[in-house]
Amino acid sequence: MIKFNFPITLKSKIHSIEEKINDQVNRARLPIRKKIFFSFLILIFLLTYLSAMIYKSAYDNETKYNRIITNLTTANSIITVAKDELSPEIREICYGRQKFQDGRHIEIIQSIKKNLEDISKNVETDESKAKIGTVKSTVATLEEQIDKIGQKIKANKSFTEISASWENLNVIINTMSDNIQDFLLNELNYCELVKAQVHNEFKINGIINIIYIIGVIVLSLFISFIISNNISMPVKKLCKMTSMVAAGNLNVDEINVSSNDEIEELAKSFNVMMSKLKERTSQLTQSNDMLQRTNEQLVEVNQQLDEYSKQSMNDNIMLKKTLETLQITQAQLVQSEKMTATGRLVAGIAHEINTPIGIVLTASSHLNNKTEEFTSLVHSDHIKKSQLVDYADMCVKTTEIIQINLKRAAKLVSSFKQVTVDQVSEEKRPFYVKEYFEMIVFSLQPQFKKTRLVINLECDPSLMIDSFPGAFSQILTNFLMNSLLHAYGEDDEGIIKIEFKKEESMFILIYSDDGQGIREDDLGKIFDPFFTTKGWGVGTGLGLNIVYNIVTKMLRGSIVCESTVGDGVTFIIDFPC
Ligand SMILES: Nc1ncnc2c1ncn2[C@@H]1O[C@H](COP(=O)(O)OP(=O)(O)O)[C@@H](O)[C@H]1O
Ligand SMILES: [Mg+2]
Repeated sequence: MIKFNFPITLKSKIHSIEEKINDQVNRARLPIRKKIFFSFLILIFLLTYLSAMIYKSAYDNETKYNRIITNLTTANSIITVAKDELSPEIREICYGRQKFQDGRHIEIIQSIKKNLEDISKNVETDESKAKIGTVKSTVATLEEQIDKIGQKIKANKSFTEISASWENLNVIINTMSDNIQDFLLNELNYCELVKAQVHNEFKINGIINIIYIIGVIVLSLFISFIISNNISMPVKKLCKMTSMVAAGNLNVDEINVSSNDEIEELAKSFNVMMSKLKERTSQLTQSNDMLQRTNEQLVEVNQQLDEYSKQSMNDNIMLKKTLETLQITQAQLVQSEKMTATGRLVAGIAHEINTPIGIVLTASSHLNNKTEEFTSLVHSDHIKKSQLVDYADMCVKTTEIIQINLKRAAKLVSSFKQVTVDQVSEEKRPFYVKEYFEMIVFSLQPQFKKTRLVINLECDPSLMIDSFPGAFSQILTNFLMNSLLHAYGEDDEGIIKIEFKKEESMFILIYSDDGQGIREDDLGKIFDPFFTTKGWGVGTGLGLNIVYNIVTKMLRGSIVCESTVGDGVTFIIDFPC
């Protein structure tokens, strides 16, 4: 899969734009529950408005009625007050039965005026207003007239003159009540008009209200239709898409919803999910392809492995065979190393015997020559006595030499025979240690004769042990040959010490030389098979390994080696008695 890495600045820019868009979307979002809430709010407002309108119209009409009725009652009370209270009051004054200044006329006039003011406030029609205006001016005239009567009384005018004024005042009161009557009629007419109007209005309002209610119902239906449509259509679409996706079809179009609410959000999430799903599916397909390819490669590798396995099985069998051969060869090598020691012994014996036998051979051939010479002298009959005596002396001396040397050879053979037999037989028998060790050292004389090395043997001559003499022959031969090969140079002087003793229940053999010694690194490896510091061919690396095996297995003892470079080597062997 190829991954495109945007530069960091571009990445951060894209990120900030993304954040801004998300912010805008979050701010502009009008969730479904808000939509429903606002719709219901509008409906409730409309219904409240309608109720308020109906209530207001009823209230207005009632107020109108109340005003008219109040006006009518007040106007009526003015007529009653004027006729029943004011007129008798003035009459009593005019007839002198009551003093002008004690009369209630001012108070009555003031109340009439106040009532008129109240009525004029509640009057609505212009006609009624004009009528009330006429009544007001009549009341003003009435007041003037009362004032005049007061002045006449003050001036002590005649009764006739005063009663005429009273007559006049009565006319004015009647005119005023007529005017109020006129006003009342007018108001009644207006009341009828209002009643007709209210009736009419009620009819119209009823129709408007019905239309209004129908409108509200239609509107609410419309709103609920839009809302449910807004919700259900995209949800239906989503359902269809998801069932398509569930059926495994990922090739579905994007859903475009711009309802600015949770559904839009849901649709967007669905689109994102779909794009992610597609991306994932394509990744999966790619991974699947890769897996398939890897699988094919694995099968191939497996086949190759099978072949290798067969091959390695063959190799294994070969290796086993080689190992067996190697083990056999090692055993043979060990055997041949052991035999080398025996061979050296035999060579030593042969060399030692060679000298007396050579002397015997020379002596016998000398005797033979002298005897041939003597025989020819005898045949020539010219033999002298002195010659005979010489020959006899020579015979005695020569046979003596022959005898001595043959005896020596016989002794050598008989002593070395035992060592050789022991080395090969590996049998247990009692023997004197010192005598036996001497024979071993002696048998290696041919190798040591030409060197400047001295071999010292320290051992109690009477010490006899019941053990494997062949084992000691192998041990000492290897130690001595190693000193010769590894410890000293050709012309080096040196002292080799062999000590054997008994300590409590243990026998101890200490072998040491004062040669080059062994390096510390090599000290731990000298008993390993095939470890040699001389090249192969010169050394085999088996000598000390054989010694180790003989000590630990045959003698059931232990061996340690101590050495410092330049100071020589010490081997200490101990084994139970
Ligand atoms: N007396 C000795 N002085 C110095 N090195 C010795 C002596 N004896 C043994 N070694 C060391 O121990 C090694 C192992 O001896 P050995 O097993 O007999 O094998 P090889 O004699 O064939 O090398 C020798 O190669 C030599 O390095
Ligand atoms: Mg050796």
